[in-house]
Amino acid sequence: MHVELKNIHKHFGKVHANKDICLNIPSGSIQGVLGENGAGKSTLMKILSGFIQADTGSQIILDGKPVVMHSPADAIRYGIGMLHQDPLDFPPMRILDNFLLGLPGKFFPNQKKAMQDFNALAKEYGFALDPESYVDALTVGERQQLEIMRLLFLGAKILILDEPTTGISAAQKEKLFATLKKLAEQSITIIFVSHKLEDVESLCGQVAVLRAGELVGELKPPYVTAKFIEMMFGKAITLGEKQSLAQTELTLLLDNIALEDARLKIKGVNLEVRAGEVIGLAGMEGSGQDLFMRACAGLARTVGGRIQLKGQDLSGKSYHVFKRKGVNFLPAARLEEALVPGLNLMEHFILAERPAGIFIDQTAGEKLAEERIRAFNIRGAPLSKIESLSGGNQQRAELALLQTPLSLILLEHPTRGLDIESVIYIWSKLKERCAQGSAVIFISSDLDEILQYSDRILVFFAGQVSQPIDASKTNVEQLGQLIGGKGWANYA
Ligand SMILES: Nc1ncnc2c1ncn2[C@@H]1O[C@H](COP(=O)(O)OP(=O)(O)O)[C@@H](O)[C@H]1O
Ligand SMILES: [Mg+2]
Repeated sequence: MHVELKNIHKHFGKVHANKDICLNIPSGSIQGVLGENGAGKSTLMKILSGFIQADTGSQIILDGKPVVMHSPADAIRYGIGMLHQDPLDFPPMRILDNFLLGLPGKFFPNQKKAMQDFNALAKEYGFALDPESYVDALTVGERQQLEIMRLLFLGAKILILDEPTTGISAAQKEKLFATLKKLAEQSITIIFVSHKLEDVESLCGQVAVLRAGELVGELKPPYVTAKFIEMMFGKAITLGEKQSLAQTELTLLLDNIALEDARLKIKGVNLEVRAGEVIGLAGMEGSGQDLFMRACAGLARTVGGRIQLKGQDLSGKSYHVFKRKGVNFLPAARLEEALVPGLNLMEHFILAERPAGIFIDQTAGEKLAEERIRAFNIRGAPLSKIESLSGGNQQRAELALLQTPLSLILLEHPTRGLDIESVIYIWSKLKERCAQGSAVIFISSDLDEILQYSDRILVFFAGQVSQPIDASKTNVEQLGQLIGGKGWANYA
């Protein structure tokens, strides 16, 4: 089915979430919709799938005929089905019963026939779903498979997927993409929404880019990544000149330290970190870098050697002592370990100030929160609950919560899952801290990030720790080898 969107407008109060969007999507194509968080992608898709109505004057035209849809049930009657960004809650029901949801009211499915239909569809797409088992046992990827099957069974000719790759594994993503390509060959129209460049580049036959509610343009292969970034952000963003802010003053001294946990032993690590220096820790997950970082934070005890911070011996001291001496640790699990769900931004800022003994009333608290929100470019208000913010904004909030001054900032995956603009922003803030004399040690699984922002790199492999490697004298290939346990002769 051919889809035409004409002059689509949508206001939410003062927010103009879709501004005069016009888009033509040929039957059987895989159309990408790309844009950073808040660009208006989900709004546009909800309009096309009947969940919300566009402002008057907007038009949706299917195979040349204007249509009006008041609900998702209307939309599916026209052949439009949508997989949502936040998987709709599945009650604890059998897969088969879920599959039959949404069939027209008077239709009493014959269980045996339904089971046959289900199995035939599942087989066609290579989905290994048992119709008799329960939905709550499924992974996010399997729920997507089930939802795709359900929508096809209801007669979808247009399938909209809103950020479907967020919660699934790489293998599930590959499978999903293969399924979508197969559906497109059967002339199902696919609309694929994402803020991830690599996803749209590998899947879509054309990509529409939204920015701040507007359609800024469309691209076709061969895709040029820089062009996408320029369209998404309205300016050419580069990772910037590499600059070292390392000073001469010694911040952290690790003298022959040894560490142990249930799985790993790390022996004899020596390291001197200077003020303003950035050390990147590379390695497969669980190779010892997390244990090493926790030791630098006082969260894991050393079993040998000494840790000194600015000349003071902190060996064997607790996290609270490390913190008092100017070490802050931002763990990977933002909502579990670093932020407090249920509290709003203002409350977070007030709590973070309290150790300094400053008494803060509501008005002063709001003022403080507003200042920090502005300074850190956080999309949210003082009274926004922390869990309502996007990942990038939670990460900005965490940075805004770091105490001042700090000797050492420890970060686990500081930019994982964030769009490139947020990555650049977060590093600009960290580099400001470096300029003020804080040393930074961070873990990342993104080798480009490690190379771009580190002065020196430690590679971890099964508890082995490399000599510090000068980031300007190595590359992704070499780091990749070391991470995989190869080529260690010169670095061990
Ligand atoms: N139901 C709503 N009420 C108020 N504002 C909304 C609502 N849905 C979306 N918005 C706002 O519209 C803008 C676009 O949001 P959205 O379409 O979800 O963007 P995207 O999916 O590209 O991240 C944002 O500023 C968002 O806060
Ligand atoms: Mg969205």
